[in-house]
Amino acid sequence: MADQPAGSDQSCRTILRQLDAMGELLIVEEEVDPVYDLSALFSLTHDRLAVQANHITGSNFPVFGNILSDLDRVAMALNVPSAAIQSTLLESVKRPVPPVVVSNAPVQQQSFSEDVLTRLPVPTFFSKETGPYISAGMMIAFDPETGLGNASYARLKVLGASEALIGIAPNHHLAIMARKAAALGKPLPFAVVIGAHPAIQLAACLYLGLGDDEMHCAGALLGEPVRVTKCQSSDIMVPADAEFVLEGFIHPDTPIVEGLVSEYHGMYEDYGTGVRATFERVTCRSDAMFQIIEPGYHAEHIYLGAVPIAASLKAQLSRAILNVGEVAVTASGSGRNNVVVQIHKPRPGQARRAMVICWGAVSIIKNITIVDGDVDPWDIAAVELAKSTRMRAERDILIITDLPADRSEPQEDGGMVAKVGYDATCRPGDRKEGFDKALPPPESYDRMRALLARIDPAAVF
Ligand SMILES: Cc1cc2nc3c(=O)[nH]c(=O)nc-3n(C[C@H](O)[C@H](O)[C@H](O)COP(=O)(O)O)c2cc1C
Repeated sequence: MADQPAGSDQSCRTILRQLDAMGELLIVEEEVDPVYDLSALFSLTHDRLAVQANHITGSNFPVFGNILSDLDRVAMALNVPSAAIQSTLLESVKRPVPPVVVSNAPVQQQSFSEDVLTRLPVPTFFSKETGPYISAGMMIAFDPETGLGNASYARLKVLGASEALIGIAPNHHLAIMARKAAALGKPLPFAVVIGAHPAIQLAACLYLGLGDDEMHCAGALLGEPVRVTKCQSSDIMVPADAEFVLEGFIHPDTPIVEGLVSEYHGMYEDYGTGVRATFERVTCRSDAMFQIIEPGYHAEHIYLGAVPIAASLKAQLSRAILNVGEVAVTASGSGRNNVVVQIHKPRPGQARRAMVICWGAVSIIKNITIVDGDVDPWDIAAVELAKSTRMRAERDILIITDLPADRSEPQEDGGMVAKVGYDATCRPGDRKEGFDKALPPPESYDRMRALLARIDPAAVF
């Protein structure tokens, strides 16, 4: 066990400093009300500015958020170019790095067993929701049968000083672990980590097999083991450099009616019940800052889910389709429902095979578009152009009815939904003029790039 955390920064603080230096961090010194106003502030700025609000009514802790709100910010968090995000995530799954245990963790500089939840600046986000939600809680738990770890996100609605509702989809690994604990007659010990390094947050959203620990992928993404420390009231290991850790239990046998709650598509859902979670302690840094992820159809909520889902789909696709390129889960489907798969020189049948693989792999995926290697799948305008120029609707659209729907699916009806695949790849012989783009020859581009560089050397073309 190392005495002191060593190595690079594993908190959110480095990226906040970087964003500040780039002029992309809005620092708010005026007092902000956590009931709706804080949410409105984050909503107004969500796709442009990270926010740090230093004075929140009723709490001593400042808040921050809107960090991973586009692909460039995700690339910054991983310290790679945007084009390398997907390969970096895939590599982290192939070559995981186990955590290292440290003592003297910054996240345990303070410890409180009273008012565990009510001392936090937890926002009430949206008009029809029924309480304040912790939206950036990364849940850590260990399988009661196998001892293997899991990290994921789930919302917590604060119900009192030490009690909350946790809303987990029944197929998520945390829900499976909680049911296993209940079968043994026990609640599931878990920890809620707030404000870990964004690479750790991205790893938590990867779709892995039950028992594959996202914290090991996080180590690969950081380029060094995640420094973890033991919770004060349980054996759960948590990232030592995070801002807050809530230590508690999930009681899956105690359902609680939730009321309407926002979803990634920007509308409300009524999921019926969540389950009870109780908390014994909160630990935090001496100058802890509380993280907020603006829920609903807001940029960070979209990209934090979309980027890891896209990487997970690429892993599945590349087993069967060797010429698969980049896979995108676009903002047009709220970062969950719409997938674009790039295939280099697709062979007959590969487009439909790719669709079937995506639908089979992740239940939340609905609309799938297949594009050629020259189309950037993250560029929604380019994908729409491919659909309007390379696709014949009667031949290239595949509709499959009556597939099981994710419970969050906006058009879910009786647990079912129809799913659509668009093959927007060029078919040889479709146009007598071919698909060549109408552009000047490459030599002219080279000459004019050189000219522009002479006129304005700072510009990049
Ligand atoms: C910001 C954010 C909030 C999320 N909130 C929830 C939630 O409230 N309930 C839920 O079941 N999944 C939620 N998810 C999705 C899960 O965290 C995600 O599907 C995760 O990969 C599931 O973990 P597992 O693969 O270990 O089962 C959220 C994802 C993000 C990015």
